Amino acid sequence: MFSARQEKQVDMGNSRLRRPLCYVVGAGRTRYGNLPDTLGELLCEAIVKALEDASMSAEELGAIYVGNFLAGLYENQLHLNSLLWSLFPGLKAPILRVEAACASGGLAVYEAIIGLSRYRRTLAVGVEKMTGFSVQRTTRCLASAGDAVLDQGEGVIFPASYALVAQQHMLRYGTSLDDLAAVALKNHTNANLNPSAHFYGKRVSLEEIRAAPMVATPLRLFDCSPISDGASSVVLARDPVGDRAVPVRGSALANDTISLSERRELTSFQAVQRAAAEAYQQAGIEAGDIDVAQVHDCFTIAELVEMEDLGLCKPGQAAELTREGRTALTGDIPVNTSGGLKADGHPIGSTGVGQICELVTQLRGEAGARQVNCTLGVALNVGGIGGTAVVHILGCR
Ligand code: COA
Repeated sequence: MFSARQEKQVDMGNSRLRRPLCYVVGAGRTRYGNLPDTLGELLCEAIVKALEDASMSAEELGAIYVGNFLAGLYENQLHLNSLLWSLFPGLKAPILRVEAACASGGLAVYEAIIGLSRYRRTLAVGVEKMTGFSVQRTTRCLASAGDAVLDQGEGVIFPASYALVAQQHMLRYGTSLDDLAAVALKNHTNANLNPSAHFYGKRVSLEEIRAAPMVATPLRLFDCSPISDGASSVVLARDPVGDRAVPVRGSALANDTISLSERRELTSFQAVQRAAAEAYQQAGIEAGDIDVAQVHDCFTIAELVEMEDLGLCKPGQAAELTREGRTALTGDIPVNTSGGLKADGHPIGSTGVGQICELVTQLRGEAGARQVNCTLGVALNVGGIGGTAVVHILGCR
């Protein structure tokens, strides 16, 4: 008698998998959290770590893609491609800056993969410096990911938008406050096994989560991702350089309207569904073949909605999976093994690249205390309220 996981692996033995698009040959990240480092220091640290992991020098890179959202607004610092050239000695490759709000990191990886049609090796790096500013300023800067008139003009900030999604999900599927709390508790538990996580070392109880202050009804403090600094980087190559290369099987990008007010459907994100369908097709797999997932839990409700949109379960079933412990490290479909945005942290530009770093670490079997049994993983990075979705499929050597 096979377990659900063993059945999946036997099925993959039929080799429906298509040829990899490319390989991740190096991955590195900084800690996430309230850090003393500058934007430039974080950027360089992540690149150095990824290059070291790939046993490669900067001269070998054909192109570099930098994902960042807020430096222009916070620090009046744009032109990050040129800034990186100034800060990092030995670079020869052209550098591009990409931005798609909270999906800036995922977009950098997506572009770096496309770049391999021209170059043999590329690097994606994501970075954000968010602490040290007032919460009012941060909230205003983050709101720039919404429509300037329809959302910002009406005061519809991020927590309010995701609160609307949560309210609708509760009405339609009976999702409860305790279901949201279960997502937060799981992700804080995972982050406590991740020494690089924003909330590493912070013990959190269900009672504390339930009693936390309200941010936007029904979302409380522990339903929100924090304000974090951090950076992460991956080196991509056409060939499996070294003996720890992880195949990239799918890479897809999709968009939707910038404002929720222009959508018919609030309990699912169409862009996620379309990007996932394309990425699964590229890989030659189905959602059921996935055995580890990093999803964009900027708010706890987002983890549930996105699991459903990725096809990891049917619409309305993600809460049940979470309640049953199936998305925990010991479950059959672990979700957000690093602690996710909720507890690993959400330094915006870094997040999508950091998700790939976590998948690579898991798929190489190098995740230590938070290691799960996995062969094929998905990473979903979302910009705004589902206005951009980037899906990557990695694994199955
Ligand atoms: N989850 C858990 N604890 C959090 C937290 C979070 N998201 N944010 C802050 N805390 C904790 C801090 O660690 C601190 O704990 P301590 O007193 O034990 O040190 C305490 O809460 C107060 O921190 P502070 O920084 O003053 O919180 P704040 O009120 O300024 O900010 C939020 C809280 C929820 C408003 C802020 O984290 C936020 O805006 N999050 C959403 C970010 C966002 O929208 N990102 C984009 C999403 S796509």
